[in-house]
Amino acid sequence: MADRAHDAGAALAERLAAGSSPTPGTLEPVTFVIFGGGGDLAHRKLLPALYNLHVDGLLPARAAIVGVGRNEMKDDAFRAFAKDGVTHFSRRPIDEKAWADFAESLFFVTASIDDEHAFPSLGARLDVIEHERGIPGNRIYYLAVPPTLFAPTVKQLDRARFVDRKASTPFARVIVEKPIGRDLDSAREINDAMAAVFAERQIFRIDHYLGKETVQNILVLRFANSIFEPLFNQRHVDHVQITVAEEEGVGTRAGYYEQAGALRDMVQNHLLQLLSLVAMEPPHSLDPDVVRDEKLEILQSLRPVTGADVDATVVRGQYTAGFDAGTPVPGYLEEKGVNAASRIETFVALQVFIDNWRWAGVPFFLRTGKRLPKRASEISVHLKNVPPILFNADPAGRLDPNVLSIRVQPDEGFSLAISSKIPGPRVRVYPVKMDFHYGSTFGATSPEAYERLLLDVMAGDPTLFMRRDAVEAAWHWIMPILRRWETETTTRPATYAAGEWGPVEAERLIESTGRRWRAL
Ligand code: BG6
Repeated sequence: MADRAHDAGAALAERLAAGSSPTPGTLEPVTFVIFGGGGDLAHRKLLPALYNLHVDGLLPARAAIVGVGRNEMKDDAFRAFAKDGVTHFSRRPIDEKAWADFAESLFFVTASIDDEHAFPSLGARLDVIEHERGIPGNRIYYLAVPPTLFAPTVKQLDRARFVDRKASTPFARVIVEKPIGRDLDSAREINDAMAAVFAERQIFRIDHYLGKETVQNILVLRFANSIFEPLFNQRHVDHVQITVAEEEGVGTRAGYYEQAGALRDMVQNHLLQLLSLVAMEPPHSLDPDVVRDEKLEILQSLRPVTGADVDATVVRGQYTAGFDAGTPVPGYLEEKGVNAASRIETFVALQVFIDNWRWAGVPFFLRTGKRLPKRASEISVHLKNVPPILFNADPAGRLDPNVLSIRVQPDEGFSLAISSKIPGPRVRVYPVKMDFHYGSTFGATSPEAYERLLLDVMAGDPTLFMRRDAVEAAWHWIMPILRRWETETTTRPATYAAGEWGPVEAERLIESTGRRWRAL
């Protein structure tokens, strides 16, 4: 019985996957040009994602992947580097035959972004590769480099005449990663520099959370079911919590993180994107711009948090030494590459309001941090309690309100907590759960976010990418918080020991409203 259910689930998953992706064979031949091709992102994410697309038959038969970097590397060395990345980070084990085919499409060109003479020779090498592989010049430029290099790279592409912003055949598209800048001004500069070379329809800004299956499912859950949508508003919802918790510390990324912190690194993008999806109005179609217009509305309706209000509604924390699964770990200030007096926050909790009709007065509590007790990301929608009558009449034994929780990761799925009678002669009520797990229903592992996102760039579908106005609207809302922290130079983030759920101030933030963080 269980096997039959599993088979049915796997078949359904296949049907859905086939239905939601471009049909294999319909994608045009393409060359991926990865600037920063010898770097960490390419190694851990991009090359394993491209390999899995190849195994699933979703890469066009005629494709090339060209790493570009300043380090001297021959094609063979790049192939070995890619194989190492796939071996360690692919969601499925390497298959030697599939690998051999895939490896033939990998090439490396040594070129420095500051060297304008390097671009014409890069162009010449790309022409040869494309000629040999029968690719008619369609190119996707992936800027897997720090944001400070986005503008210089696109300028070089322009100078070397790599991009025709009017032509759609052959196409030229560019992918950049968050963070787009480190504040509103730098984001605008980057966006301006890209807009000078590429049209907006050619620009794909990645927020990898939007490629996660569970995140894509938020719209399906909300708008493919009739039971939730009537409840998603201030009449029925008491509050919403969004938690993105990480167990790991800053690791080897102190150089970047010291310039960023959790507000820039996670809230400005991932958490605000989750918030937009859970709160947006139903779009009238799935057209990319219609969906993105509705998400933008939410960012524009966020109640500004300014001046002293920042201190009351935003908590920043920094981890001190503590434990990760029983093993002692250092505090943030002791991490390699961190300034010993750093005021960078590794945790943020906020209370946010969306000033529109649907959500008027409903608090949204957001929190994210590194070195928390476990990796767990969840959105929970807490419904209002039933009146204190009938089964909820006893003040000493109040019922738990209904909670819809969407588990983004791990143990992907969602559950609905509802009250039920405990069997027996007395009327006793107990909270039970209706629980859905991707793993047991759909079987096979879900594709990685990057697989879906790279596929969408090949298909030219920008729905899951951040439009310029959304990036800038998010920065616009974040800026007063950053400014407050920058001017309050004598205050430091509150501390929490590694392995705790953030500083006590985060508990107080929510408890002062009569609510509590959900135990994860
Ligand atoms: C990245 C942040 O965008 O997201 C990292 O820069 C963070 O600091 C990561 O660790 C979390 O992503 P995921 O997919 O592991 O939840």
